[in-house]
Amino acid sequence: MQPIGVFDSGVGGLTVVAALRRRLPGETVLYLGDTARLPYGTKSPATVARYTQRNVDLLLERGVKAVVVACNTASALALPALRSPVPVWGVIEPGAARAAAVSAGRVGVIATESTIRSDAYGKALRRRRADLLVVGQSCPLFVPLVEEGWLEDPVTHLVAERYLAPLSERGIDTLVLGCTHYPLLAPVLARLVGAEVTLVDSGEAVAAELAGELAARGLLASARCGEDHFLVTDAAERFGRLAERILGRAVSLELVELV
Ligand code: DGL
Repeated sequence: MQPIGVFDSGVGGLTVVAALRRRLPGETVLYLGDTARLPYGTKSPATVARYTQRNVDLLLERGVKAVVVACNTASALALPALRSPVPVWGVIEPGAARAAAVSAGRVGVIATESTIRSDAYGKALRRRRADLLVVGQSCPLFVPLVEEGWLEDPVTHLVAERYLAPLSERGIDTLVLGCTHYPLLAPVLARLVGAEVTLVDSGEAVAAELAGELAARGLLASARCGEDHFLVTDAAERFGRLAERILGRAVSLELVELV
């Protein structure tokens, strides 16, 4: 059976791989982290669309049966124009569907600058429920803080407090973690927004949707076809360190060049 291709701008998409592993233990993953061109979250829609198509093409060349665009920014900016002969899932629609299902009416969305500017979550949420109030907040410092490994650090707490204050003031009851890195900050975020606010992890939502869809299309693997494989486009040292933290095990990496 062929692997599922998972693509992200870097290491954060491994939070989606971890969710896939929990939901679909029989599947094998081929992961591509475009570490050479990270971050995507500050780039223009045209650039993100071009990079995303190239990344998906590489996964297709390697024979994947389906693609998960784990990167929220790429899902927000590049999905509509993406060409692929195999099914492609992004994280925005599953995350929005889950938030619309649980919210009492006020949804906060935290994401990169480009994702917030695109209003992709806002559109997907309001398409499902016109009554929803959606408040977006970009949190550009979260990605470097996570990559530094400062998940529970007082500095991270302070930064998160500042980003979340406007959302709490608007009385949100649901908070969408609209970036691959943010599930790693969930304990800090949950403490700050309080127990009455539901956190929605878009990576977990896409894994749940994929499990149902692969079964419906007869694409579920009957047995694993080998180990997960990880491709990166640049220096692997930092990726390896974070990968171990996210997946709970060391991974070996293959360096690929994208032209
Ligand atoms: N993977 C990106 C996202 O989920 C965050 C990192 C980046 O800016 O490339 O939006």
